[in-house]
Amino acid sequence: PDLFAPERRNSEGFDLTDAPTLARIDAARDEYAKTEFAAQPMLACKVEGLKPRRVLNPATGQLVGRVTDASAADVDHALAAAKPWKATPAERAAVLNRAADLYEENFGPIFALLAREAGKSLMDAVAELREAVDFLRYYAARGLELKQPPLGIFTCISPWNFPLAIFTGQLSAALAAGNAVLAKPAEQTPLIAAHAVALLHKAGVPASALQLLPGDGATVGAKLTSDPRVNGVCFTGSTDTAMLIRKAMAKHLAPGAPLIAETGGLNAMIVDSTALPEQAVRDIVASSFQSAGQRCSALRCLYVQEDIAAHFTDMLFGAMEELTVGDPWHLATDVGPVIDEEAEQGIREHIEKARKEGRLLRQLSTPKGGHFIAPTVIRVKGIADMKREIFGPVLHVATFDADKLPKIIDDINATGYGLTFGLHTRIDNRVQELTEALHVGNMYVNRNQIGAVVGSQPFGGEGLSGTGPKAGGPEYLHRFTQPVAAGKAG
Ligand code: NAD
Ligand code: ALA
Repeated sequence: PDLFAPERRNSEGFDLTDAPTLARIDAARDEYAKTEFAAQPMLACKVEGLKPRRVLNPATGQLVGRVTDASAADVDHALAAAKPWKATPAERAAVLNRAADLYEENFGPIFALLAREAGKSLMDAVAELREAVDFLRYYAARGLELKQPPLGIFTCISPWNFPLAIFTGQLSAALAAGNAVLAKPAEQTPLIAAHAVALLHKAGVPASALQLLPGDGATVGAKLTSDPRVNGVCFTGSTDTAMLIRKAMAKHLAPGAPLIAETGGLNAMIVDSTALPEQAVRDIVASSFQSAGQRCSALRCLYVQEDIAAHFTDMLFGAMEELTVGDPWHLATDVGPVIDEEAEQGIREHIEKARKEGRLLRQLSTPKGGHFIAPTVIRVKGIADMKREIFGPVLHVATFDADKLPKIIDDINATGYGLTFGLHTRIDNRVQELTEALHVGNMYVNRNQIGAVVGSQPFGGEGLSGTGPKAGGPEYLHRFTQPVAAGKAG
C-alpha cells in the first residue's frame, strides 16, 4: 500500500443502472448526435496546417468531423514556442483539478465523441471519462510532492483505443511536473483530443505549455521524437512503434532523455478445474470482448483445464450468444466496431486462416455495414502458436493437463510480453506460485483482467509490454522530472 498517497477521491462517474441518470446522459449525448466536430493544430504560434481530412464513424461510415493535420513547419514552430509551465506546483494542481471538473461537466459531447469517433459503448465511455478525470486529479496531487524541476519539453504520443483517458493521462503527468507538452493524438481520434485540449486551456493551462499536433505517426510523430529540442517522450501504442521511437531518440536526442513507453501484450488466463465456472465465464467474456477486444490488457489466450474444458466452452459459447454487437450509439450494444478498415482487414485475415485450418470454434453473426468483427473463438495449442497481438474481439483457447502447468508458465514468459495475466482457481498455493513465476505487470485473480484504477491499481507491463513506471501509480511522475544528481540522493 502507498502509505503516503495524497488526499484525493476518484471520480464517482455515472450509475448506468439508475434510470434518471441514464435519461440525463442520453439527452446530453443527443445534442451532439449530428454535430460536425473540427480539430486543428492548437499552437502557441501561427498555424499553417495541411489540407483538412474527414474523420468517419467506424460503426456507420458517417462523417464525425474534419481535422487539419499539423505540417512539418507547424511542428518546428511549436517546438520553438514551447515553454515549461512556470507556475507553482499548487497553481498547476488547481488548474488540473479545474480541468477535471470541466471534463465531468462536458460529459455530453465527450460521450458523443467517444461513441462516434472511437466506437465506444456507453459503458466504456463512462469508464474512460472517469479514468481521464482520475488521472488529472491524481497527478495534480502527486505533483505537489515533487522536489525536482521539470525536464523541459515532453512529447506525448497516444493511441486511439483510449483517446481521452490515455491522451489525458500522459499530458497531465508531464504538466503536473511542470513540463511543456507537445501532444500528438492517434490519426483516428483527433477530434476528442482537440475537445480535451480546449478544456485544458479553458481551465488555465497556458498555450505555450500545452500544444496539440494532430497528424500521422510517420511524419508528425517521427519529427516529435527525433528533434533534439525534445527532452523526453511519453508513448503508448504498439511495441513495434515503441522500438522505432527508441531508435530515433537514441540517434537524435540527448542520451539521458527518457522514453516512458506502454505497449502491446499477449495476455493469457488460466482456468483450472477448481474455478467457479459461472464467474470465470463472465470474466472471460468481459476480458476478451468488452471494448471489442481493443484493450492492451484484453485476454488473448485462454487455457482451460482438460477435465472441465468441454462443459466450460459450452457455457462460454452460451454466454457469448447474449452479446449484442452493433452501433455503440445504441444503449443495448455490448460490442462495437473495430477502429477502421485496416484493423478490420487484418483481424479478418487472421480469422480466415483459422477457419481454413479448421480451428474456428465459434463466431457470432456480424452486423452489416461498419467495421464490425463479431466475437470469435479460435482453437490453439498454446500461446506459443500466437506470433502477434490480434487487437480485436478474438479469443484463442487451449486446454491443459495439470502436470503441464510449468511448461505453460515458460511459454507465457517466452513470448517476451508481460502485460496482464488472469487466473481462476480456488487453490491458494497456485496463486502464490504463478505470482512468483510469471513476468507480468498486472495479474488478476478470480476476476476479469481489464480496467485498472488510477491511484489504487496502477497499470503497466514488463519486457515488450512497457518500460514502467506504472501509470496511475506513485512512481510515475518522477520520470518527468530531472533525475536527482549523483551524491545528492536521499
Ligand atoms: P500505434 O503504435 O500504431 O500508434 C500509436 C501512436 O504512435 C499513434 O499516435 C501513431 O500516430 C504514433 N506513431 C506511429 N508511428 C510512429 C513513429 N514512427 N514515430 C512516432 N509516433 C508514431 O498503436 P495503435 O494502433 O494506435 O494502438 C494500439 C496498440 O497500443 C496496441 O498494441 C495496444 O496493445 C497498445 N496499447 C498499450 C497500452 C498500455 O498501457 N500498455 C494501452 C493502450 C494501447
Ligand atoms: N488501463 C487499461 C485497462 O486496464 C488499459 O484495460
